[in-house]
Amino acid sequence: MNSFVYDIPVKVYFGENQLCHLGEELAKYGKRVLLTYGGGSIKRTGLYDAILNETRKAGLEVFELAGIEPNPRIDSVRKGAQICKDEKIDVLLAVGGGSTLDATKFMAAGACVEHDAWDFLSEKWAPIEKALPIITVLTLAATGSEMDSGGVISNPETKDKIGRLAPPMLPKVSFLDPTLTYTVSPYQTACGAADMMSHILEVYFNMEQDLYMLDCFMEGLMKTIIKYAPVAMKEPDNYEARANLMWTSSWAINGFVNGGKQQAWSCHPMEHELSAIYDITHGLGLAILTPRWMEYCLDETTVSKYVQFGVNVFGIDPALEPMAIARESIKRLSNFFFNTLGLKSTFGEVGIKSEDFPVMAQKSCAGSILPGFKPLAQHDIERIFEMCNE
Ligand code: NZQ
Ligand code: ZN
Repeated sequence: MNSFVYDIPVKVYFGENQLCHLGEELAKYGKRVLLTYGGGSIKRTGLYDAILNETRKAGLEVFELAGIEPNPRIDSVRKGAQICKDEKIDVLLAVGGGSTLDATKFMAAGACVEHDAWDFLSEKWAPIEKALPIITVLTLAATGSEMDSGGVISNPETKDKIGRLAPPMLPKVSFLDPTLTYTVSPYQTACGAADMMSHILEVYFNMEQDLYMLDCFMEGLMKTIIKYAPVAMKEPDNYEARANLMWTSSWAINGFVNGGKQQAWSCHPMEHELSAIYDITHGLGLAILTPRWMEYCLDETTVSKYVQFGVNVFGIDPALEPMAIARESIKRLSNFFFNTLGLKSTFGEVGIKSEDFPVMAQKSCAGSILPGFKPLAQHDIERIFEMCNE
């Protein structure tokens, strides 16, 4: 058990009708606000008008950047950083899903430097020492971007999709109103559930001596996703389901579950290479990869973790043989992703071609070893990709 620092300083307004506090929170950071959003869902739902109503009441001057793409592009980040500089923006207000939030984080950092924002993510890895303050209004429960300091940005020119964490990009305040997720489609709800599940599994699957309390916490989060994602898909305006998913998305990745675990992630680096080339939905890629990765890593040295997972999360009979429990746990997880959530189950179905496996595998492990639950070399990752077609 390693020592750790607990420090998650994001103020969260959770629940319905909390937007009445938006104006006062923004005003703490200044008068000039850059409102960022995606392809228009916030206009269709009426949220855009509600936001402007609050900023008007608080006497704020609002500038806008619309059209942030799913798998957000570096060009959107560049535009936002430039607006911040030109208009002397005091605070950024990101309204949307993870893509809008992630792009806004890098705009806020880009506004504080002279160099190109891609330098934060390219091999230059420019330091992120400052960022303008960010406030978020979340509309999709999935990535946890509302409560973490990370973001993932795509560069179509270089076919890269790269993530980075930096404390200055942590939102100051996040508004989590589950009713704002009522309009999320069943498909995006399913992808969000798969993403949250993966965030937990990436940390949970770890052979270090851990805090038992954190494992129980993660098992509770996973059971929450398994219980409520199908409810939210069938009854989009079920408050209890949406609220449980929303708060789970934040806690799956806000750093709390890591505790003293020093665990490199495995499926996320692989998935980012799929999205980089094929622009597929992040949660869908993770759903296809995760059960195959688990299958590939299962052996006598790792089986105990699968037993714990299968028994505690899926209620598999602990009297069965460990290997049988482990295999059954992977089967149950696959069943959850592909039958309950209805996500496509193979690379072939989503158009990912085997000719790209070598380059995607090579980039996943940066030409060396992808550390994690089981260290993976390029040939291991290629094999996992092949299994995604079986
Ligand atoms: O763009 P709009 O019109 O808003 O539509 C979006 C988009 O088409 C729509 N949507 C969002 N809220 C909605 C809604 N539609 C109806 N009603 C609402 N209330 O949903 C679509 C997907 O949105 P997006 O923001 O792309 O989804 P998500 O939240 O899953 O974000 C995915 C991005 O986050 C990154 C992923 O790689 C991907 O680029 N991640 C960020 C992480 C982080 N910051 O820590 C960690 C994750 O592992 C992940 O990598
Ligand atoms: Zn993710």
